[in-house]
Amino acid sequence: MTDTDGDALHTAGAPDKWARFRTELFELGARQEAYERSVINLIASDNAVPGWRARSLPYAGDMIQEGIVGKRPFAGAALHNELERVAAEIACEVFGTDHAILQSHSCSQANQAVYQGLLRPGDRVLALRFRAGGHLTHGMRANFSGRDYAFGFYGVGPDGRIDYEEARRTAKEFRPRLVICGSSSYPWSYDLDELRSLCDEVGAYLHLDLSHEAGLIAGGAFACDLRAADVVTMSLDKTLRGPHGAALLCRAELADRMDAAVHPGTQSSFPIRRLTDAATALLESRTAAFAEYAGRSVALARALGRRLLAHDARAVVGGGTDKHYLLLDTRRVFGHDGRGAEALLEELGVLTNRQSLPHDPSDRFRDAGGLRLGTAWLSSCGYTTEDAEELGELVVHALSGRDRDTCAAAFRELTGRHRPGDVRGMTEFVPAAN
Ligand SMILES: Cc1ncc(COP(=O)(O)O)c(C=O)c1O
Repeated sequence: MTDTDGDALHTAGAPDKWARFRTELFELGARQEAYERSVINLIASDNAVPGWRARSLPYAGDMIQEGIVGKRPFAGAALHNELERVAAEIACEVFGTDHAILQSHSCSQANQAVYQGLLRPGDRVLALRFRAGGHLTHGMRANFSGRDYAFGFYGVGPDGRIDYEEARRTAKEFRPRLVICGSSSYPWSYDLDELRSLCDEVGAYLHLDLSHEAGLIAGGAFACDLRAADVVTMSLDKTLRGPHGAALLCRAELADRMDAAVHPGTQSSFPIRRLTDAATALLESRTAAFAEYAGRSVALARALGRRLLAHDARAVVGGGTDKHYLLLDTRRVFGHDGRGAEALLEELGVLTNRQSLPHDPSDRFRDAGGLRLGTAWLSSCGYTTEDAEELGELVVHALSGRDRDTCAAAFRELTGRHRPGDVRGMTEFVPAAN
């Protein structure tokens, strides 16, 4: 970024103040970009987007739109209707669903629309417990979900896998109207046949929240049959590598209710550009390069885990992963709680996030006993499985209290091998002019 055309900002009132703000913003922005190039990012919800994308998007305009296709409150919507129709069609083709809405500003908001479309305030919902991997929009008391609906929870067994018997038992007693399957920190695949039959038995809707897994599913790296669900939500910006926002997908019978729950139910306007950016990301997910990126994300998480497990068999919760992240038990293995381990690695140039683990004493973040280590960013930047194994070894050294300067230098050397700007491109979709 350059600070070249700010003069107009300096004309009205207290010019020094506006100039100072502008300088501060540009300096901070540049420092943030430099910082991101200098660290290894293992935050599972982050990713690095191919640099060419910004130059090869279908629409660069600024218009917003509101409402659903064919029912707009603004003039000039004919082409917007067509763009939204095509984008939704692409999403349906990629994920094998009947209906798609790509308007939500985030997956939290898409979840809000699902609850509003299927439930009345106070209705009962069954979801995965937070420390077993659930998300705050799945019934945390401080969140709208926990305030507006009556949540019950199912958990995981000693092997770290969902206890489907407990889920069925609880569902029969609790009689939920909605069952949520989805997670922020559950590294295994889901038994959707079990959950579908459980929902059929108690007469509940099944909502799959695939915020994290969307790109892995699109890229063929994580098996998940969306047709088992009544409604699906997913982030566009995590493993799918699109713009920030979410998709809401559903069966044809629920299309009108979900449309109404998005608009006017939970939001008004959305930018057309995000819709077309999302559709482009979905098209990219059809390429061999994307499938390779998705598969490597999982392979990197497993390679990282191998080294951690070689140090201590308790290090990786459940002993492995089917996804782009794993859970590291830092308290039992290294004597650091999640917050301490996160801070220690941050100082050495490695970004992670503290994570509640199934055996923690509570769902509170201050009790979090470990870290979630994600690999989507690594995969996008071109890291190899050998790099990931080396990274695992370095994480062990760092958390075991080896000399800090030596550890920091080793992480720096690894960081220098790959850069966010090196994101492996999906050249099939780069127009020839670029
Ligand atoms: C399972 C799950 N659902 C929903 C969300 C919310 O997504 P957003 O941050 O886009 O609101 C997350 C975020 O990480 C998540 O992990």
